[in-house]
Amino acid sequence: MRFDVLTLFPNMFPGYLGQSVLKRAIERGLVTIECHNIRDWATDKHKSVDDRPYGGGPGMVLKVEPVVDCVETVQQATQPPGHLVMLTPQGQRMNQAQADRLARHQRLILLCGRYEGFDERIRRILDPEEISIGDYVLNGGEVAAMVVIDAVVRLVPGVLGDEQSSISDSFSGVNRHLLEGSQYTRPREYRGHRVPEVLLSGNHEEIAAWRHSESVARTRRRRADLLDENKPAKPGTDD
Ligand code: ADE
Repeated sequence: MRFDVLTLFPNMFPGYLGQSVLKRAIERGLVTIECHNIRDWATDKHKSVDDRPYGGGPGMVLKVEPVVDCVETVQQATQPPGHLVMLTPQGQRMNQAQADRLARHQRLILLCGRYEGFDERIRRILDPEEISIGDYVLNGGEVAAMVVIDAVVRLVPGVLGDEQSSISDSFSGVNRHLLEGSQYTRPREYRGHRVPEVLLSGNHEEIAAWRHSESVARTRRRRADLLDENKPAKPGTDD
């Protein structure tokens, strides 16, 4: 799978891409990530990429020409051109279902904003999908792009050593509406806290049943809203 990240701050990425799962996925050729500096498409002598908003108001707005030129050049580099995703707080909220859907694309182009936002004509011309990673405002789309890459890369076949491990994650597979339950490793006892006996029993059925009930209990305590998603809509209502 290939990601192209369009940003004004490409230097934010190498540290993150050079570690752990991402690093191995790139080394093994399962994932390619190219960063492009939008400023390289600025045409004036000051290399400006932003300007004051028409009508007044605080902050600066990303200009239409460098962004559109940058996206179109990057899209033209491959066939098919790749699915364009703009990271903005106004987008659809990111969740595991969105990650599953995005992972079906061979190529994603992630467009990161800065300043007060994008000139609206960027949306009109490029018609991107817009994704938000949550209802808060970041200083730019770069961290959001990293979140999207991180969540999607886990789903690329072969990236996780154990093919099962993304399936057993919270929000995934049969756990779609459940948080992951508790896990233990050695030692068996630490400061008086013992590993639950059932996990030492070797009885796989009992262990699976215990894990499921832990997971349901944790979800009920922390995120009862997820369990509500399981309930069928009441007949005659819109919910
Ligand atoms: N850019 C600024 N805030 C953002 C958010 N919450 N999600 C995605 N991109 C953003």
